[in-house]
Amino acid sequence: MSNAKQAKQRAAELRTQINHHNHRYYVLNDPEIPDVEYDRLLRELEQIEAQYPDLITNDSPTQRVGAAPLAAFASVRHALPMLSLSNAFSSEELQAFDRRACEKLGVEKIRYSAEPKLDGLAISLLYEDGLLVRGATRGDGNTGEDVSQNVRTIASVPLRLLGENYPRRLEIRGEVILSRRGFEDLNRRQRELNAKTFANPRNAAAGSLRQLDSRVTAARPLELYCYGVGIVEGIELPPSHSEILEQVRAWGLRVSPEVRVVEGWQGCLDYYEDMLSRREQLPYEVDGVVYKVDRNDQQQQLGFVSRAPRWALAHKFPAQEEVTRVLAIDIQVGRTGAVTPVARLQPVSVGGVTVTNATLHNQDEIDRKDIRIGDTVIVRRAGDVIPEVVSVVLSERPDGAEKFKMPDKCPVCASHIVRLDGEVVARCSGGLYCAAQRREAIKHFASRRAMDIEGLGDKLVEQMDERGFIHDLSDLYHLDKQQIASLERMGEKSAQNLLDGFDKSKETTLPRFIFALGIRMVGEATAHSLATYFGTLEAIAAADKEALQAVPDVGPIVAESVYRFFREQHNRDVIARLRQAGVHWPRVRPSPKPIDHPLSGKKIVLTGTLESMTRDQAKARLQALGAKVSGSVSVKTDYIVAGEDAGSKLEKARQLGVATLDEQAFLRLLDA
Ligand code: IVH
Repeated sequence: MSNAKQAKQRAAELRTQINHHNHRYYVLNDPEIPDVEYDRLLRELEQIEAQYPDLITNDSPTQRVGAAPLAAFASVRHALPMLSLSNAFSSEELQAFDRRACEKLGVEKIRYSAEPKLDGLAISLLYEDGLLVRGATRGDGNTGEDVSQNVRTIASVPLRLLGENYPRRLEIRGEVILSRRGFEDLNRRQRELNAKTFANPRNAAAGSLRQLDSRVTAARPLELYCYGVGIVEGIELPPSHSEILEQVRAWGLRVSPEVRVVEGWQGCLDYYEDMLSRREQLPYEVDGVVYKVDRNDQQQQLGFVSRAPRWALAHKFPAQEEVTRVLAIDIQVGRTGAVTPVARLQPVSVGGVTVTNATLHNQDEIDRKDIRIGDTVIVRRAGDVIPEVVSVVLSERPDGAEKFKMPDKCPVCASHIVRLDGEVVARCSGGLYCAAQRREAIKHFASRRAMDIEGLGDKLVEQMDERGFIHDLSDLYHLDKQQIASLERMGEKSAQNLLDGFDKSKETTLPRFIFALGIRMVGEATAHSLATYFGTLEAIAAADKEALQAVPDVGPIVAESVYRFFREQHNRDVIARLRQAGVHWPRVRPSPKPIDHPLSGKKIVLTGTLESMTRDQAKARLQALGAKVSGSVSVKTDYIVAGEDAGSKLEKARQLGVATLDEQAFLRLLDA
């Protein structure tokens, strides 16, 4: 067989396999092979197609990535109009609907197909001879837009139907949605890019599907759920809606697993109650349920009224968006100092829960939506997500409402609020002093790699904070034995042990102390660089941003963070009190010039147990020489120091050809 012929055969095989695995993964949620294996198949196909472009077919799974942007969408006339549904908002309306249908059919009881009403965008997919040939939006029901290129990028839309017994022409109808997760991820990304966020998953799905550039659509996690068929030519369909959905599933399309067949209006109501109670747990937003008379012949008998079938009814859930008023905008300070504006709202019931607050995220978000005190706004609450202000009803804005501006002082401790370059959140800079940040600050301060206060665990810190024992960090060193002994699970003896722990921790090192301060962006390595460069805490505290940036590894953002920290008088006061309480460290010889040592600047990994020192001690000595100590081996590692019982890291280092030092060689190099 010629190469080209072999390639053609292999490409066909790969397509079948990939389409199969795609269906398992995206439609059935039940993958058979690991992701890497799937990627391997896809890559192999891509390679063949790159070599033989003639082999690329329309249904090739490589053709989902998005094509060149369009100037405009073409219009599509729906052969069968895409109708809407009549709505019911109460069980009385449901019963009335059922009664009318029973009368018209002359029956006692009707069997219904009950389904979730997904909140997205209606879509029509046309398959010819099993191949996806067109995707169109609903538009006004008669004429929609051709969004074929975009629809092809949706992973749960099969490009080719499964099996053999599909009709010559088949139109599938369904809803394109974004899951809650997908929506939140998308909005988070948009916020990070400082781009417009979407008000709700529905808008996000609609905005994503109606992109002229399908590469944008491809990057959005859209999903399809099918709920019916349109035109069908060439085969006889099964006699009921529920069986048709079963058939649609067999063709490889995704149908909601929540579809049920129920009896009479009572069955419908039970289904409604059940779905409503599980609404928040569903992975996507549902704005109600839909009941459809199941038997096709009964549907035909019932027919249509204007734009909606008489055989179907949407039973709506309480809305997740409501209108209310912003009474005030408060500022909340989180445990890490992050400062978040929160709208206090005129209480309003949204989706069955009373909402009084909504997050406003940050100043950018407030500016973008232009939310002001006194504004009438649309609020939204969905799932367990914090309620949000979606938009302002501008026509209702009271005269004289002023633009909101975040305060520049922390409402908890009056320290300055700063926003570092490149960060969306603003933070209170009184890290050591601010009551909102106290707990986390103490936990960090006491931790092993910081001040290493033996016996002071997280639980104890929380108790001390609750009892109001600690106002700022330095109070730790003024606790008395009685106070400590009064805490839960503390006796005389453990209180004494803790006091000893406090005493012992007072003898520290400058790098540890700097790290313990919990300055944002200052980890152990940076603390070390600062200490060795400046030599004293006073010098660091006095340094301007330029001087700070001269330190190896300190860039403008870290410099800004350190600078701001020491400009805060509250922080300086706490540091002074800590030193008065006896916290001290040995002098550090400043070495603003790079250290001249064979290990300086080298990347080193420690593994196994050393006899002559602990791992922390080895790390400290290496850092003092300007070496970088890392936890994992890579091609960039210069040396691996292997003690007793070194394991997988040593193995990996050997594979990568990284130089190995045993303890003797390591000690000789340290002293070089
Ligand atoms: S059936 C003639 N079933 O709701 C029947 N629609 O208000 C037409 N929708 O445009 C649709 N979930 O976008 C049907 N399980 C479901 C649905 C559903 C959501 C949407 C659909 C339609 C709108 C009608």
